[in-house]
Amino acid sequence: MRHLIIGASGQVGGHLWRRLRHQATEEVMGTYFSHPEEGQRALDFTDGVAVRQLLERYQPDVLWMPAAMPDVDRCEKDPALSYRLNVEAPCQVGELARDIQAKVVFFSTDYVFDGTAGPYKETDDPNPLQVYGRHKVQTETFLLQHVPSTLIIRPAWVYSNDPNPRNFVFRIVEQLKSGNIVNAAVDQINTPTDSDDLVQRALTAVHRGDEGIRHIVGPKRLSRYDLTISIAREHGYAESLVKPITTTSLNLAAKRPLDGGLVTIFP
Ligand SMILES: NC(=O)c1ccc[n+]([C@@H]2O[C@H](COP(=O)([O-])OP(=O)(O)OC[C@H]3O[C@@H](n4cnc5c(N)ncnc54)[C@H](OP(=O)(O)O)[C@@H]3O)[C@@H](O)[C@H]2O)c1
Repeated sequence: MRHLIIGASGQVGGHLWRRLRHQATEEVMGTYFSHPEEGQRALDFTDGVAVRQLLERYQPDVLWMPAAMPDVDRCEKDPALSYRLNVEAPCQVGELARDIQAKVVFFSTDYVFDGTAGPYKETDDPNPLQVYGRHKVQTETFLLQHVPSTLIIRPAWVYSNDPNPRNFVFRIVEQLKSGNIVNAAVDQINTPTDSDDLVQRALTAVHRGDEGIRHIVGPKRLSRYDLTISIAREHGYAESLVKPITTTSLNLAAKRPLDGGLVTIFP
C-alpha cells in the first residue's frame, strides 16, 4: 500500500511515518510544514495547487491527515486561522484525494464532546465547547458527506516518549527536572492515548477497510492530576512536586471538556 502523510513532522504523523518506513510491504511519503524532517518534503496543505500536484504525482492509496492547528487556546484567540487550517485546508485536501480515489484518514478529537457525561461513544452527538472542537466537527461532517470511504479517527490526550516539546510527557519531565512545581487539573478526566498504540490500531483499521468514525484511545480513564502523578513516579520524581488545581484557576482561553474521554463500540 502507498501512503502519503500530510503532517508527518508532528507527534502523531511522525509516529505513523516512522512505523510505515520500517515495513517492507508499505511505501510512504511524509510532509512537513515548518519543522523540516530529513526524508520528508515541504508542503503547505492550504496550497491546493501544490497538494494536487503531489497527489497526482505520488498517487497514494491512503492519504493521512494529522496536519492541523491543534493548539486549542490559539484556535480560540484566532478563529480565522483555525478555520483555515482545521476546516478549509483538510476539506479541500479531502476533495483532491477523492479525485484520485485515495482513501482519506482524518484525525479529529475528543474535544468534539462537551465533557458533561464521558466517556463518549462514536454514536454520541458532538457538542463542542470551543472553536477547535466546532471546527473539527465541521470537517468531520464535510468529509463524511463528500468524500466516500473517509475514516475519521478520534484520539484523546496523545502521549509518547518523544523528546519533543509537543509531547506533554516531555514537557512535564522537563519541568520536574528543573525543580519546578507542575500544576495539574484534578477536574479534567480523559482517556490518554499512547501514540504507538494509536498508529498501530489506525493502520489495522485502514487495512480492514474501516470507514466512518472510530475512537482510538487508551484503556484507562483518569484525571490530568493522576496522569501527571504517574509520570512523575515513573521518572523518579516526588509526587509532592505535582500540585492539584482546578481548570478554572488556569484561566485558559478555551473551555475544556471535564468529564470526558472516549470509548469505542467497535471491536
Ligand atoms: N496530540 C493530542 O493530544 C491530540 C488529541 C486529540 C486529537 N489530536 C489530533 O491529532 C492530529 C495530530 O495531532 P499532533 O499532536 O500530532 O499535532 P502536532 O504535533 O501539532 O502536528 C501537527 C502537524 O500539522 C502540520 N501542519 C501545520 N500547519 C500546516 C500547514 N499549513 N500545511 C501542512 N502541514 C501543516 C505540522 O507541520 P510542522 O510541524 O512541520 O509545521 C505538523 O506536522 C491533529 O489533527 C489533532 O487535532 C491530537
